[in-house]
Amino acid sequence: MTGDWIDVGALVEIPLRGARTIKAANGEEIAIFRTAGNRLYALVNRCPHKQGHLSQGIVHGDAVTCPLHNWRISLSTGEALGEDEGCVPTIPVRADAGRILISRIAMLATLAA
Ligand code: FES
Repeated sequence: MTGDWIDVGALVEIPLRGARTIKAANGEEIAIFRTAGNRLYALVNRCPHKQGHLSQGIVHGDAVTCPLHNWRISLSTGEALGEDEGCVPTIPVRADAGRILISRIAMLATLAA
């Protein structure tokens, strides 16, 4: 752990178009996605529809399709796309020197909400 960012692992642990999960201190699961364009996003791992595990969905562009009922969720905003409505909290995440860093403050704020 360093400063405002928490080191949660190596970037190579997430394949392109893949995801991995981490557990927050309160037990909430966070999904970290890596897109084909090599961008990183972090969302609470609960679909806004019926709590499907977004980490098990298919990543396409900057969105993920939920594995349960195929809602498409924006990875950048956490909002449901198309005609569906709902939103899941997002958390700032970035890569630095091959490590994945997640915002400590945003994570605490997200999980306290
Ligand atoms: S739980 Fe995700 S689409 Fe229904």
